[in-house]
Amino acid sequence: MSRNKTRAHALVDLSGRAWDTQFTMKNLTYQFENKSVVVTGGASGIGFDVARHFLQSGAQVTIWDASEKALEKAQTELGQWKSQLKVATVNVTDREQITQAASALPKVDILVNNAGITRDKSFAKMTAEDWDAVIQVNLTGLFNVTKALLEKFTEPAGKRIINISSVVALYGNFGQTNYVAAKAGVIGMTKTWARELGKKGFSVNAIAPGFIKTAMTNAMPPEVLQTMASKVPVGRLGETSDIANAVLFLSTEQASYINGTVISVDGGMTL
Ligand SMILES: NC(=O)c1ccc[n+]([C@@H]2O[C@H](COP(=O)([O-])OP(=O)(O)OC[C@H]3O[C@@H](n4cnc5c(N)ncnc54)[C@H](O)[C@@H]3O)[C@@H](O)[C@H]2O)c1
Repeated sequence: MSRNKTRAHALVDLSGRAWDTQFTMKNLTYQFENKSVVVTGGASGIGFDVARHFLQSGAQVTIWDASEKALEKAQTELGQWKSQLKVATVNVTDREQITQAASALPKVDILVNNAGITRDKSFAKMTAEDWDAVIQVNLTGLFNVTKALLEKFTEPAGKRIINISSVVALYGNFGQTNYVAAKAGVIGMTKTWARELGKKGFSVNAIAPGFIKTAMTNAMPPEVLQTMASKVPVGRLGETSDIANAVLFLSTEQASYINGTVISVDGGMTL
């Protein structure tokens, strides 16, 4: 590092935000060249951005998603990494489909269990079908996928399972009995797998996103988004890249001692 740069770094060290920028640029670059990653629900929203970040960092990425249309779009948008990318139509509730897709994978190093749905209604109005659909995808789906892929983690160390939960799992939420129950179950499953698999070279963690901007939130009126953002201590909604960055960090060697935890990525929303 040149003398000037060292001085600049020392000066900005004292000024908070500028230091943060420099820190981000200098230290947080990832290299996953020899890693194979599976992202469920990776054709859109958060999962798509997780897949994109891994591709940018050199990983081999397999996206499993139930929506053929979304997969086609994702494949086009990620075209510049086509030699690193594989996609397959896989519904995480369909064990046969999962087994078949798993058999096509030579190995897995990092699994991101991200696929999820909502069927929000107050408890009084929620039907058994609403309950079953959300539990099947958001909870049983993780069991199905992880069970089928477990034997594909063939490296002795550096194995990662990252489960996408939600901050509502920690605090409850009106109209989300099914979703909160599933996402809280994901946390329980994460902690159990962290205990069972820790000695086998895995670390298993959950991420609890807050309000994240996706296609769904982008369609909301700006004043509604403004009100939502004003409830977040950092004064903004989360970006999909905020979640992707947390996933990539947990996937590094440097994060190997983080096991069985839930990382809230919510701008402090739930404080
Ligand atoms: N967006 C948020 O604010 C937020 C907040 C907290 C948690 N989350 C969680 O993050 C994850 C991603 O959410 P998102 O906002 O990006 O959602 P999204 O709807 O934008 O994307 C979800 C993807 O999962 C796929 N999917 C749905 N059901 C599936 C199934 N049965 N099998 C395989 N794929 C399926 C969809 O086709 C879609 O591509 C979910 O688990 C969600 O619960 C999101």
